[in-house]
Amino acid sequence: MTDLRETLAQELARARERTLLLTEHDEPELLRQHSPLMSPLVWDLAHVGQQEDLWLLRGGDARCTGVLPPDVESLYDAFTHPRAARVRLPLLPPVEARAYCAEVRGRVLDRLDRSGPDDDPFDVAMVVSHEQQHDETMLQTLQLRAGPPLLGTGSPLPAGRPGLAGTTVLVPGGPFRLGVDGTEEPFSLDNERPAHVVDVPAFRIGRVPVTNAEYAAFVADGGYTDPRWWSARGWQHRCDAGLTAPEFWGPEGTRTRFGLVEELPADEPVQHVTFFEAEAYAAWAGGRLPTEEEWEKAAVWDAATGGRRRFPWGSADPTPELANLGGSALRPAPVGAYPAGASACGVEQLMGDVWEWTSSDFRPWPGFTPMLYADYSAPFFGGDHKVLRGSSWAVGASVTRPSFRNWDHPVRRQVFSGIRLAFDA
Ligand code: AVJ
Ligand code: FE
Repeated sequence: MTDLRETLAQELARARERTLLLTEHDEPELLRQHSPLMSPLVWDLAHVGQQEDLWLLRGGDARCTGVLPPDVESLYDAFTHPRAARVRLPLLPPVEARAYCAEVRGRVLDRLDRSGPDDDPFDVAMVVSHEQQHDETMLQTLQLRAGPPLLGTGSPLPAGRPGLAGTTVLVPGGPFRLGVDGTEEPFSLDNERPAHVVDVPAFRIGRVPVTNAEYAAFVADGGYTDPRWWSARGWQHRCDAGLTAPEFWGPEGTRTRFGLVEELPADEPVQHVTFFEAEAYAAWAGGRLPTEEEWEKAAVWDAATGGRRRFPWGSADPTPELANLGGSALRPAPVGAYPAGASACGVEQLMGDVWEWTSSDFRPWPGFTPMLYADYSAPFFGGDHKVLRGSSWAVGASVTRPSFRNWDHPVRRQVFSGIRLAFDA
């Protein structure tokens, strides 16, 4: 095996460690529908194996039979079975789902062993990204789950720095190379490519994400009862869904986090808000949401070189000193916790902590070409989806980049989603 293959085998193992940790609960927990928005955990588990089987053992050719008989395999097709319906399918029980995943993984490692230096490892990286993304999805499910804590309180995080909430930095106007090419980021997914130059006029952007304390001021100021802060659609949704605060906020300044009721931390980025709430907060604060072009420029544009940095802080891979990633914290870090992670423009906590809603609809970059998993992005372009940028605390450190584009419906808030403000300069 080449060094790159060795690294990818480790990445596969790391993703699997997370998957197994998140599914090592009693059978009823894995079979239950914790929310109609989510799959039973046992579906995610076997689906991760099914996708690995499809992309890495059959090159994506679904006409070839995989490890499972076709009628069983079809239960794990995300397009045929909506999330809410998956609980009624004759799913593999947890023991069988684990055995299936292990069987597929064994064959994949054999294939990796036999691969030569000329084989393109993109497919393996794509499958690592897929499993890591489902690990985050499973954390959303576990956050929605009612009942006593299953995951503990999370690993410790660095302390924040005072005085940053509500402050902004200026990002100068001018051309910016948006997106990446396969040569610079070989494991970037189809929707991040190709790189292309866009003009981004000067704007200001929040140095850190909006905190719980800032958001609580919006709530206390009657933000949820005054339609003037909301878009027409947003207000309609706020009324239909009866929104009065972010999801999981409780009475008297408390919140529920993975079954644990605790005081709402003032300096932590607000999470579990819909796009519509983010938009309303921004209007109340006299600003707006950034576009995704603005977001990416603030993250990687370096005035000293006129080019891009690989990460906001430079070229080094993420570490626990640079960003809160990987899922073990079970929460965002307080604002100011990562001074070493600042971008060239001085923007902090762009990677990790919370996904940041942008004002942009999910569309292809000009020259978009679908990847091996051709239905990963393309079916969602032009739909009712807003782009989220950065990454949350629940994202695998190795599968995120500043060019990574996440998307969701504007009404969704089980996502670890937060807010960063932008202002016209
Ligand atoms: C990119 C997070 C929107 O969960 O719908 C997982 C990722 N795609 N399996 C999703 C994904 C197929 C996707 N998001
Ligand atoms: Fe999937």
